[in-house]
Amino acid sequence: MQKEPLPLQSIIYDAASDAVDIIDQTLLPHQLSHVRLQSLEHACQAIQTMQVRGAPLIGITAAFGLYFALRDGIPLGRASSTLAATRPTAVNLRWALRRLELAVDGADQGSDTAARALREALQLQAEDAAACNAIGDHGFTLLESLWREKRKRDPEATRLNILTHCNTGWLATAEWGTALAPIYKAHAHGIPLHVWVDETRPRSQGASLTTWELGARSVPHSLIVDNAGGHLMQQGEVDVCLVGSDRTAANGDVCNKIGTYLKALAAADNDLPFYVALPVSTIDFELPVGVGQIPIENRSADEVHRVVGVDEDGRLRQVRISPEGCPADNPGFDVTPARLISGLITERGVHEASAAGIAALHPDRSGSSEI
Ligand code: MRU
Repeated sequence: MQKEPLPLQSIIYDAASDAVDIIDQTLLPHQLSHVRLQSLEHACQAIQTMQVRGAPLIGITAAFGLYFALRDGIPLGRASSTLAATRPTAVNLRWALRRLELAVDGADQGSDTAARALREALQLQAEDAAACNAIGDHGFTLLESLWREKRKRDPEATRLNILTHCNTGWLATAEWGTALAPIYKAHAHGIPLHVWVDETRPRSQGASLTTWELGARSVPHSLIVDNAGGHLMQQGEVDVCLVGSDRTAANGDVCNKIGTYLKALAAADNDLPFYVALPVSTIDFELPVGVGQIPIENRSADEVHRVVGVDEDGRLRQVRISPEGCPADNPGFDVTPARLISGLITERGVHEASAAGIAALHPDRSGSSEI
């Protein structure tokens, strides 16, 4: 298990070279290697190839990509639509682009526009770090009370078991993470927890990224195959499910990595709480309903046919696991209906997954409908 000091920041703007450094997440956990982004093209490529991934980080990378474009004299509309086409599901991408478009609106041409875009991209990154920190605090309170209740029911209990899907840690955001932020905070406060990590085929973000993050911070965890969750729930080995979101509709439906919906169904069947952690930037306030309405990214069939890993000599390899010519389909995300969700953990507290809960989170609304 990797124990070398980790950067804990997935994206860094370097003013001296006017460039952005990212971690190439396609090489983890086998290699920790950085890539420098200096142009619109670099940013698009990093998002498309999933060197950067995770809804908030995709948005932040797109913001820097738009800055590079304006600095290099590429027209705003063209740059924005090129970036928007890189990955269709995570709404943070479009949200970030809109934020930058508004920030540069009315600026003089040239350097003034680019300077405003850079300021906004850095602001967006700082806001995401703060939001994830606050999500961590609210989620920690929740995990603490779940642990207290469990100990009351069973004074012999030794740990709180959390099941998570995909990667929702600091790699996927500016800092901390979404669903992993409460886990990091609860662990730091001494709550004895253990995380079941779904491997998350086909890209295996659970196996390669979440285990790497948790291992580096010594958070107890076990990697499981994607279909083990339901069985573990029936065996009483799961106390709560905690996942992230790529897009949350105005009625509280949540779109997240493929396989999330099945975990929510199993949790409901076993009377277990199912929470989603997300910054408000992940809410699509203009989309009334999520099921059937969110564009689901369909990725290459190659990802289904092949697995990537290292061989005994430590060389990165791809191997095929299906017959040549076998047809395959690869939807990247699914939608969990609001009725299966116990609550949304946001930077503004824990809210109901419902139209009322989402309306209270609208940026124009203050006040609280926390649960
Ligand atoms: O395809 P990915 O790796 O970008 O998918 C990431 C997820 O599905 C996460 O759960 C999601 O972005 C929310 S948490 C950052």
